[in-house]
Amino acid sequence: MAVLKKIRSRLWSQSDEAAELSAASAERVPRPVGSRYDIRPLTISQLDECWRLDQRCFIDGEAYSRETFEYLLTAPESVSYRVVTQGGAMVGFVIGLVEPDHTGHVTTVGVAPEHRRRNLAKRLMSQVEEGFRRRNVRLVRLEVRSLNVAAQKLYQSLGYTITQKLPKYYSNGGDGLLMVKSLYVKN
Ligand SMILES: CC(C)(COP(=O)(O)OP(=O)(O)OC[C@H]1O[C@@H](n2cnc3c(N)ncnc32)[C@H](O)[C@@H]1OP(=O)(O)O)[C@@H](O)C(=O)NCCC(=O)NCCS
Repeated sequence: MAVLKKIRSRLWSQSDEAAELSAASAERVPRPVGSRYDIRPLTISQLDECWRLDQRCFIDGEAYSRETFEYLLTAPESVSYRVVTQGGAMVGFVIGLVEPDHTGHVTTVGVAPEHRRRNLAKRLMSQVEEGFRRRNVRLVRLEVRSLNVAAQKLYQSLGYTITQKLPKYYSNGGDGLLMVKSLYVKN
């Protein structure tokens, strides 16, 4: 996320082992029965709720700062959505940016630990892709940590492919992967 590196203050201090553990623990959370969710636009009105949720999704210092969210949610090129419960609580979000080269850039996606493995991230990603399409974006890119297997599987299931390794991409020395998807190809 080269552009974001300029504006974000995310601290990639979480160890790779801790990242794997957090992904694995999501699978042990019991799933409430009968929950329904809606996808809605994510705007600056949800700044604090989104910032708090991000801190639950990206643990141990990985979370974006409030200022970074403020930037992302007020940028005219922002294409962002949230998933809410029937009670209106935000339990997931995705933030995309239309870059100057007209590629879509998924800067972050997160789902509350207790709501994972219900296709919410998949729905959010489909929605942000649709938002990109409406802005004439034809190629989407994102970066993911090499050890974030859960996120990679999510992106692969949606048709993203790894095109580049990004050695020591993250500020704590962790490696990254660049993944892309052409929006001409529908899944
Ligand atoms: C990655 C993340 C967004 C996935 O959210 P989610 O709502 O649980 O994902 P979905 O239910 O839509 O999963 C869709 C598919 O992705 C894959 N997937 C998602 N989580 C997975 C996991 N923990 N392990 C393996 N595969 C996983 C599976 O193929 C899954 O389909 P299935 O449940 O039918 O097997 C969520 O785990 C999260 O918020 N993690 C912390 C933040 C993060 O790492 N964000 C990505 C940064 S690049």
